[in-house]
Amino acid sequence: MPDFKRYMVTSALPYANGPVHIGHLAGVYIPSDIYVRYLRLTEKDVKWVCGSDEHGVPITLKAKKEGISPQEVVDRYHNIIKKSFKEFGISVDIYSRTSNKIHHETASEFFKKLYDEGKFIEQTTKQYFDTIENQFLADRYIKGTCPKCGNDDAYGDQCEKCGSTLSPEELINPKSTISGGTLELKDTKHWYLPLDKHEAFLKKWILEDHKEWKTNVYGQCKSWLDAGLQARAVSRDLDWGVPVPVENSEGKVLYVWFDAPIGYISATKEITADWETYWKNPETKLVHFIGKDNIVFHCIIFPAMLKAEGSYILPDNVPANAFLNLENDKISTSRNWAVWLHEYLEDFKDKQDVLRYVLTAIAPESKDSDFTWKDFQERNNSELVNIFGNFINRTLVLTKKYYNKVVPQIGILNAEDKTVLNEISKTKDTIGELIENYKFRESLKELMNLARTGNKYLADTEPWHLIKTNPERVKTVLNIALQITAGLSVLSEPFMPFTAEKIVNLLNIEKIKWEDADKNSLVPGHIINEPELLFDKIEDSEIEFQINKLLKTKEANKKDSIQLKPIKEIVSFDDFQKLDIRTATIKAAEKVAKTTKLLKLTLDTGIDIRTVVSGIAEFYKPEEIIGKQVQVLVNLAPRNLKGITSEGMILMAENPEGKLCFVSPEKEFENGSSVS
Ligand code: MF3
Ligand code: ZN
Repeated sequence: MPDFKRYMVTSALPYANGPVHIGHLAGVYIPSDIYVRYLRLTEKDVKWVCGSDEHGVPITLKAKKEGISPQEVVDRYHNIIKKSFKEFGISVDIYSRTSNKIHHETASEFFKKLYDEGKFIEQTTKQYFDTIENQFLADRYIKGTCPKCGNDDAYGDQCEKCGSTLSPEELINPKSTISGGTLELKDTKHWYLPLDKHEAFLKKWILEDHKEWKTNVYGQCKSWLDAGLQARAVSRDLDWGVPVPVENSEGKVLYVWFDAPIGYISATKEITADWETYWKNPETKLVHFIGKDNIVFHCIIFPAMLKAEGSYILPDNVPANAFLNLENDKISTSRNWAVWLHEYLEDFKDKQDVLRYVLTAIAPESKDSDFTWKDFQERNNSELVNIFGNFINRTLVLTKKYYNKVVPQIGILNAEDKTVLNEISKTKDTIGELIENYKFRESLKELMNLARTGNKYLADTEPWHLIKTNPERVKTVLNIALQITAGLSVLSEPFMPFTAEKIVNLLNIEKIKWEDADKNSLVPGHIINEPELLFDKIEDSEIEFQINKLLKTKEANKKDSIQLKPIKEIVSFDDFQKLDIRTATIKAAEKVAKTTKLLKLTLDTGIDIRTVVSGIAEFYKPEEIIGKQVQVLVNLAPRNLKGITSEGMILMAENPEGKLCFVSPEKEFENGSSVS
């Protein structure tokens, strides 16, 4: 492994088409913040960039829907996201944005260089064009019937019912989801990055040289590489984005996944004139923090772009996380199933670190994980309050009580004292090593274990009893407890920066360096500040409030999700006239044996008495419906149902949930009356 001299850290650029939620924090921004804070504390040379991803089709559609410009959409969300990150202590060196001029220039130049050097293939293909909206459509904005399973709601890239991967041309009856109109195939020219040409390189680079990548990341890369890579279009027909910087390319922009990762480079340019050292010097360790849906772009496509360009380094690691669920359900912006960061702070003012703590403890590092409010409360109350906060508070309060806030002298150390002090060093080393290996959950556990050790030390030595029998000994005990507290003030910083700062203030010291965490830096005679609680209990009522809020969202979603069936194909009046629908009275009704749904009805149609088998047993009891008038299709070809000949069909109204009710005449009417 090369010896790295500096670090270039990037975090996936969130799309500026919505605010950020706990899933974003847990998956990407907290892990990268822990990593970078640790690097800074250990005095590494590090740059960390992030920003808003402001291009792409969804943003243009949101703008259209709201009747505003795409720029207005991204302005709004860029500011909201930027503010949320700041409030949660996400300490990026810059939170930039891809609509910036410098980014447009950087992305253009990048494209131009590859273009001039013949690194792209030009291809004209036929693509669906929405004649109403006057635009070419991306695959996912086309819907139609799946050729494999007949699902009417299949997308242009995938059928969610049978799971098949599709291309839009395969759909039967393709329609635009934007205008609802039918589509036309039209010629369009695009530039493609021939990934197949980079396949051999990528295979060696990832599969052989980066076996240490996380299993989920390595596995995804392997399956892409094993399946064989194909050329990918790097331009789109759209009027929002970075214009393709070559002649005869009006109405074409760079594909958002081509320009966005270049945003990392543009952002670095904004913070240092020396940006090339961070992006081109092989002694720089480049690390991309992302979510699992971004793996292929950061491990295959972006590296292929960088390699094709020729002067850039490639990532040393891409520690992608899986997804965080909320109360056992997938987080979803469109269903408003999320805990939004700005809303969290309204309800839990100044409790950023509690959320940071919980999200790190349950981070989806190797598989999807679940956030629940109960667990949030439990971890706050039994870990942060009872262990971490309690240890520090007891230490400070006793120091005040016995020594008037003056750090006491340390005496002769016994074996227990030495073990405890040694724990600070061990914890420091273990946390560091775990963070360097992207194991943030485990590293947080180590931090808590140090607080546990401190708590146990106080419980075992019982200074509150000892003060009467052996006051000299108590000085040593509290000195040690204070040294642990000082250690915690620095070791907790990557995880809970606000708390770390509070501890520093309570101890009335300068921030300690990571390497000095175990150096017993509190000198006897130093005066600490007035003790204050670091965390407080979260009450059941606060949690119930959050759970109720989610229940309301569930209810609202249920209402919204009730969807009426689309209108069927147009029929002629003549076709309609072929149906002979009559008013009839139910004379007798009984359940059909061995079925749950069927009733055998005897009907007086005015013309005759006949038998009809109807699938209404779940909705009507036989005895309830005797004497009822209904409408019957009397010229339907007879059918045999469970051995009974059914001569007609009763007309029923069916609601979106599939419940049925009769379509009866509004008042009593002659049997045999026809519907026209
Ligand atoms: N906006 C993308 C997403 O949220 C991430 C882009 S990462 C970048 O999934 F590398 F392209 F910037
Ligand atoms: Zn299908």
